[in-house]
Amino acid sequence: MRKLTIHDIISKKGKEKIVALTAYDYQMAKLEDETGIDIILVGDSVSNVLLGYDNTLRISMDEMLVFTKAVARGIKRALLVGDMPFLSFQVSKEEAIKNAGEFIKAGCDAVKIEGGEESVNVVEYLVKNGIPVMGHIGLTPQWILKMGGYKVQGKTEESIKKLKKDAKLLEEAGVFSIVLEGVKEEVAKEITEDLKIPTIGIGAGRFCDGQILVVWDILGYTAPPYPKFVRLYENLRERIKEALSKFREDVIKGNYPSEKEIY
Ligand code: KIV
Repeated sequence: MRKLTIHDIISKKGKEKIVALTAYDYQMAKLEDETGIDIILVGDSVSNVLLGYDNTLRISMDEMLVFTKAVARGIKRALLVGDMPFLSFQVSKEEAIKNAGEFIKAGCDAVKIEGGEESVNVVEYLVKNGIPVMGHIGLTPQWILKMGGYKVQGKTEESIKKLKKDAKLLEEAGVFSIVLEGVKEEVAKEITEDLKIPTIGIGAGRFCDGQILVVWDILGYTAPPYPKFVRLYENLRERIKEALSKFREDVIKGNYPSEKEIY
């Protein structure tokens, strides 16, 4: 088994769907890697998913690096992408490359940067300096204050025009793939057909080159309600609650520990 590179990911376009998931810890990274997930993203979604912040703007570089290092220790095959948090790439190119470099030193093969035209200069700078970048356009959660909420993109002519322009600019700047989040299916399809690099969709319909979801959503560990595009493959919240209740009952009734569980 060898480590996937950005070139393996690019060459899947048009041949094989790319499967991506988020991971935030060593054990989950190992499970995903053993399952054959192609791209593992340490998403800044860890901010709301595991740290209980109300959005992704709150998380810092230092916090992201703790999760990234844990995930990196669990991966042998998948391409590992670190999500550059809010303000880690906007202040200056120097700060951006220093922070992107921290993700690479932590074990990442690439970083992800939100934003289209707004982020193109920094993307180009990182790529020129040898750091592969995954783009991310559409419903970009780091722009939530400006967007005024999590809103599906590509509904108006203006929005469609911007999405298409952003995708092209990012491709020209050298990204190896683009996440399309919360984008109308027909728009995501056109963008996918327009690009030589793969698109990875999340709430962007059936025609992207790959799909990514938040792992704790599809396992039912995050609390409902879930976005429309989330398919539940497990119901961990219920299963965990059942297990915890059984443990509680066993302790209260004196059934735990048993004779087999003592020294
Ligand atoms: O932070 C994240 O988890 C993401 C993906 C959902 C694309 O950006």
